[in-house]
Amino acid sequence: MSTITLKNLVKRYDDGFEAVKGISLDIADGEFMILVGPSGCGKSTLLRMIVGLEDITDGELQIDGKRVNEMAPRDRNLSMVFQNYALYPHLTVYENIAFPLRLNKNSVPKDEIDRRVRQAADMLDLNEHLQRKPGNLSGGQRQRVAMGRAIVRDADAFLFDEPLSNLDAKLRGQMRTQIAQLQRKLGTTSIYVTHDQTEAMTLGDRVAVLKRGLLQQVASPRELYEQPVNLFVAGFIGSPSMNFLPAHPVDGKLRTPLGDIPALEHQLKAAEGRDIVLIGVRPEHFEDNKLVDEGVRSKGWTFKADVSHTEWLGNEQYGYISYEPDPKVSGLLNSLAQDLDADELVPMVVTSLEATSRIRGGQQAELWMDVRKLHVFDAESGENLTRDAEEGARLTAEAAEERAFEIKRAQQEVSA
Ligand SMILES: Nc1ncnc2c1ncn2[C@@H]1O[C@H](COP(=O)(O)OP(=O)(O)OP(=O)(O)O)[C@@H](O)[C@H]1O
Ligand SMILES: [Mg+2]
Repeated sequence: MSTITLKNLVKRYDDGFEAVKGISLDIADGEFMILVGPSGCGKSTLLRMIVGLEDITDGELQIDGKRVNEMAPRDRNLSMVFQNYALYPHLTVYENIAFPLRLNKNSVPKDEIDRRVRQAADMLDLNEHLQRKPGNLSGGQRQRVAMGRAIVRDADAFLFDEPLSNLDAKLRGQMRTQIAQLQRKLGTTSIYVTHDQTEAMTLGDRVAVLKRGLLQQVASPRELYEQPVNLFVAGFIGSPSMNFLPAHPVDGKLRTPLGDIPALEHQLKAAEGRDIVLIGVRPEHFEDNKLVDEGVRSKGWTFKADVSHTEWLGNEQYGYISYEPDPKVSGLLNSLAQDLDADELVPMVVTSLEATSRIRGGQQAELWMDVRKLHVFDAESGENLTRDAEEGARLTAEAAEERAFEIKRAQQEVSA
């Protein structure tokens, strides 16, 4: 059990490229921390610096409050699972899992090795495969063997670098659940790098969002989703992405390509004195006006729009509305698209409507927007001007409480 503390960590590679530009992060004992961000933002570099595979250019790395910058990887007592889990093909599953324990000869007695391998195999449901070779296993089974090899040691922390990215969607889902349960049972501090939205949102106690070697925000998944600090975090977290529209404050309303939105007091205040802002609305905060409860309808805004096409997905459907882009914000939106690894942000609003809605493409439709959920962003810096930091902190504190309860329950199950 360990805390891991990053103090202004910097990584400059030999060619002069600065991949990590001063990142500070406190990871609590037993915490499950997720690192997310677009390709090339420095996630793997950071993980490799923590585990000791990459030198630290500047700053300090502490494990349990002690500086470990100069410590060799094997002395840091951290266990890492890589994306391409290299298993030894000539060894059985049993021997693959036992491998790290046999490395330091004599220190772990034989029957202790056996006990730990079987315990890991139990947790990972590998008991019937212990005598098989990795080559004959399925992708998910191999991934579990790699996981077994990581947890068999009494490591102070687990570091995962996109461990599930080689698996198909269904297996990923299963493995995700297993990792979540395993981490709760073991209560071991974990840092997990992923591209996958679902993994980030479901596994993490907290999620750290990175952009070009810089930390943008670290918070519980709900705080990130509901109270993002800026345009980048708002656009990166959530799928489909939050919609961003140019807006001008005019006579107590926000004039947008969709019409004049009767914004709330605090939203108008945020936009006050600016010629133009960007507003952000998530797809699910739109609805077919017909399907909105009478009591709720007055809390939002009903408007008419030309829906260009719809996509029906069974449990919901997406309705698309194109609009005329505003050149005043195209610079910011283009650079946002680049940061997000997207080709370009198309001037199109995505709405998520109930599956029963009869709205179809090529018609004018009456839609409803939940104005309460609207965010206002600065059109130059991208800062979220409507962020409620107090509410955000409350969401993260709530998540920590829930998590503590879940860990307690999982560990009671283990000891029972
Ligand atoms: N050995 C190296 N020498 C120079 N630059 C490097 C080296 N390794 C990585 N980089 C650069 O550092 C940046 C961060 O790389 P890193 O592998 O940490 O990104 P990442 O966030 O893990 O991306 P991905 O999601 O694609 O795995 C990239 O721009 C990469 O080109
Ligand atoms: Mg990487």
